[in-house]
Amino acid sequence: ARQRTGNGALTFRAVPPNKLDTFVVPNGYDHAVVIRWGDEVVPGAPELDVRHQTGASQSKQFGYNNDFVGVLPLDRRGRRALLVVNHEYTNEDLMFPGFTSQDALTVEQVRAAMAAHGLSVVEIERVGDTGRWQPVARGARPYNRRITALATKFDVTGPAAGSAWLRTAADPSGRTVVGTLNNCAGGITPWGTVLSGEENFNQYFVGGDAVSEELRPKLARYGIDTAKRYPSGSRKWERADERFDLARHPNEANRHGWIVEVDPFDPDGRPRKHTALGRFKHEGANVIVAKDGHVVAYMGDDERFDYLYKFVSDKKYLKGNSWHARRHNLTLLESGTLYVAKLEYTSTDEVDGSGKLPTDGAFDGRGRWIKLVSGNRSYVDGMTAADVLTFTRLAGDKVGATKMDRPEDVEPSLATGKVYVALTNNSNRGVGSNPKADEANPRTANKHGHVLELVEDRGDNTAETFAWSLPIVCGDPTDPSTYFAGYDKTKVSPISCPDNVAFDSVGNLWISTDGNALGSNDGLFATPVEGPERGHLKQFLTVPLGAEACGPFITTDDRSVFVAVQHPGEISGASIENPASNWPDGDFAKPGVVVTWRLDGGHIGA
Ligand code: FEO
Ligand code: CA
Ligand code: CA
Ligand code: CA
Repeated sequence: ARQRTGNGALTFRAVPPNKLDTFVVPNGYDHAVVIRWGDEVVPGAPELDVRHQTGASQSKQFGYNNDFVGVLPLDRRGRRALLVVNHEYTNEDLMFPGFTSQDALTVEQVRAAMAAHGLSVVEIERVGDTGRWQPVARGARPYNRRITALATKFDVTGPAAGSAWLRTAADPSGRTVVGTLNNCAGGITPWGTVLSGEENFNQYFVGGDAVSEELRPKLARYGIDTAKRYPSGSRKWERADERFDLARHPNEANRHGWIVEVDPFDPDGRPRKHTALGRFKHEGANVIVAKDGHVVAYMGDDERFDYLYKFVSDKKYLKGNSWHARRHNLTLLESGTLYVAKLEYTSTDEVDGSGKLPTDGAFDGRGRWIKLVSGNRSYVDGMTAADVLTFTRLAGDKVGATKMDRPEDVEPSLATGKVYVALTNNSNRGVGSNPKADEANPRTANKHGHVLELVEDRGDNTAETFAWSLPIVCGDPTDPSTYFAGYDKTKVSPISCPDNVAFDSVGNLWISTDGNALGSNDGLFATPVEGPERGHLKQFLTVPLGAEACGPFITTDDRSVFVAVQHPGEISGASIENPASNWPDGDFAKPGVVVTWRLDGGHIGA
């Protein structure tokens, strides 16, 4: 295998901002679509037929709106791997010809949309000796699998499993849930499973007006409309499955909003929802093994003014691939301690909301992890452990956690143990009676977002105290409110709305964006975070019109970058008949996963 040397400097020529309906990579690189909406996942899947999609056909095909991407090796030679992908949500207007409204969808179309949510597991193979990968097209492909919102059963683990909040008529035990909703980002664990965040689950439920007075504020805190029977923007899934009607099944919403763990090497195994990691609009979760062997998961709640969390396992990680070790490690996320972050500021630093650096020259400070639950024990007044884990936002409110500008992907660098948080934007920061700008969220009406670096005390990921700083405050570098770790701003790329983060093998930070408020297409960026090149951020690729850039995933050999192109052509007024994007096949837009590689076979970015 090629070993990477040098200081990790990124030498590719930055891709300039653009509004093209194509996927653009730097000179010297190439790219190809690996898999797109409607392609075969389960062998024998029917071809995509947008006029006749059904729950059954879509349950065998690659789902819609791919977000998280993970690649897990299947062999030691680096020739086969499992591609695991989240499917966050659906754009029915871009999927079904003749679409007029959610109400007018047929029940079978609703079932197809439900099946287009969830995850896909796909066996892929390297093409020749390049960094390109493609699906294995023939043979048994025993790992290929669809996990859907429609039919896949999940086991519930941890202290809130079986609690009264999780019991329904269909599941009086409160321990088995059908389906996963709005799977956004995620992570790969050291023991070779995938974690997936259930994010904006609120939009799938109606009937919030009919629930008990006790439950009402608990649903409202998660964005479920408790005033209207049919909130605007609801997906109308209750037309296909009554469990989405809270008037009939008030606890069903409590069964979503968790971190899901999928073992892609166990294609018949039931995925699990881990209550020990709390319930919120989970963007994703990323795990690191701490020095003492406990595993630590970092997580964000993607809502304006919501919180940053971490989980520390009770048990320790066992090294190695033995059956015994893996079986043990699969239980690590079932019990532990859940914390929420409180960030503290230097009292002398004035933050006026303009993005002007404080007098000490940096947005930085210290912070504490506030313990919410440990095992079955609650540390929050008036809430049981099951209460805290099921209504974690309310617990965070009670303990005075720090209200952040939409924490999206939160990921520790395995090279340094430092943790990076994408804070995507917050149009309401400091507006009206909303919380004012503070040192960790320093701009009023934050349009472009920022990146926070968190360094645990003693380099111990289980520590209860940390230091933090903002290495990147996003925007056009000519905008004085931006900051790139002090690097020469004439040499960096404009960036807006960081969403997903990833690392290459030498620890460079890769950032993908969603909703570029500078008006150009979204894309993928990279910057060193250590040494003299820290802050030298460059755009590596751009995605087609209307899409956000997700994933990203850099293979451990640094030869391939996978990116999910989510919702290409999602532009107001567009439809499948009148698409705003023709990517990738020249007709209507299809979300898809793309691999990028270097033509000379070298390391990506170097
Ligand atoms: Fe689904 Fe927070 O992005
Ligand atoms: Ca996201
Ligand atoms: Ca990530
Ligand atoms: Ca986003």
